[in-house]
Amino acid sequence: MQIGRREVLGALGGVAATGAGLWTIERRLWAGERARLAMPPLVDARESRKVALRAQTGRTRFGSGAPSLTAGFNQSFLGPTLLLPQGEVEADIRNALEEDVTVHWHGLLVPGEVDGGPHDPIAPGIRRRAALAIAQGPLLAWYHSHVHGATARHVYAGLAGTIQISDGLDDDRGLPSRYGIDDLTLIVQDRRFDEAGRMVYDLTPTDILNGFHGNRILVNGQFGATAVVPRGIVRLRILNASNARTYTLLFPDGRKMHLTGTDGGLLPQPRATGVLRISSGERAEVLVDFSDGAGAQMISGRGEIPILDFTVDPGLAVRIDRLPDRIAPDLPPVPEPDGPTRRFALNTGGGAVQGRGAAQGEDAQGHSHGEGHGHGQALVDMAGETASTSSHDLHDFSINNRVYDPNRTDFHIPKGTTERWIISGGAGGEHPFHIHGVQFRVVDEAGGMVRIENSGWKDTVLVAGQTEIIVRFDHSAPPEFPYMYHSHILEHEDAGMMGQFTVG
Ligand code: C2O
Ligand code: CU
Repeated sequence: MQIGRREVLGALGGVAATGAGLWTIERRLWAGERARLAMPPLVDARESRKVALRAQTGRTRFGSGAPSLTAGFNQSFLGPTLLLPQGEVEADIRNALEEDVTVHWHGLLVPGEVDGGPHDPIAPGIRRRAALAIAQGPLLAWYHSHVHGATARHVYAGLAGTIQISDGLDDDRGLPSRYGIDDLTLIVQDRRFDEAGRMVYDLTPTDILNGFHGNRILVNGQFGATAVVPRGIVRLRILNASNARTYTLLFPDGRKMHLTGTDGGLLPQPRATGVLRISSGERAEVLVDFSDGAGAQMISGRGEIPILDFTVDPGLAVRIDRLPDRIAPDLPPVPEPDGPTRRFALNTGGGAVQGRGAAQGEDAQGHSHGEGHGHGQALVDMAGETASTSSHDLHDFSINNRVYDPNRTDFHIPKGTTERWIISGGAGGEHPFHIHGVQFRVVDEAGGMVRIENSGWKDTVLVAGQTEIIVRFDHSAPPEFPYMYHSHILEHEDAGMMGQFTVG
């Protein structure tokens, strides 16, 4: 197993820590590298209703840097965009890694048996079929590995990709749909590069505490790329597949983004916004108007981090030249809860935990203690740190002071129930909170208005302070394959900020 770990991220674990560089320095260092933004390969399964994914390792050169050891699906880094129809789709997954992998369908409402969470590891050399019954409208979802204790490392290495559910009606809606031309997929990730330009995952205790943050932004595995777009309306399907970083996307030229879709599907009408906050695991679809013919730069407001440049090619045919005013029927009213209200406190390390007793009670069973501790150690070891560096804090990552235990079901929910969940981040900062197998509506954020980003159906929400959501549990998850809820800061999730429940 240890060899397998090295295999996936050998170079990442082996390279000495260089620390995060300053953006300005990095920009100078890498200046002059301008390539056209490429899309992930498109797997159009609308006719075949079959997708094949092979988890594999590879070598990837980012810019002119030295090659990095990476992982991906069907390629060396990241995976293809899966364009899926509604109805039955068969996924054929093969594991060519030297360690377990899973394929979790983040955003697809599928039963626990095929959800691809931590209870469904696929061993090396094994092939797995998953029958997915897709009964959702058009949306942007994604898939990624979800092996407990290894999710952060796997996603970082590249084991992730996007999914588009299509009903074939985007022309009627006036939405751009030409992949890579007026309909761009943007997988936004930050990665840490050393001076040789190698991607490293030199995880320190501070990185576990804050989540791992990189010193460069990749879009679709490229950095410093320029998206070439037609002189019209362009659709951006944005996935934040970073391990921890939240982006505050904006165009400094004042250009608006028109939000047309959230995690769970399309909004009735585009909603204009100057800034778009998107945390790890979230998706957003926006329209941007390039009919002025001018180029633009998208940045992330905090720290003015450049994300992506756009340039208009007047030679590209313009299919959509005005914003649609109606995209989808009105959202149904937020359902009334008919089940209990549950509260979730996300506990971060560094003394935020009061009720250590609860976690230690679980420790008496032996297994949960061993799991949490062991994974923490492995992460620290991989970074070449000595085991003595503050692994004591890892147990403090929990929800309601309970560290994730694969052998403990936190609660059961009768299928068909609607519940109110109140999630609080406490003093530990902001956390994206994700629930498997459901969609929810956000009804309150820190006692105030619900942000535009959270105005539709969601499966992941950034919790700053306290967030209240109404969740419907319409899909079943048996005790052998429970659904997860967790922080989508992947280092926190791996360290135990996760729980699980059954529905039936
Ligand atoms: Cu994006 Cu539990 O996953
Ligand atoms: Cu967290």
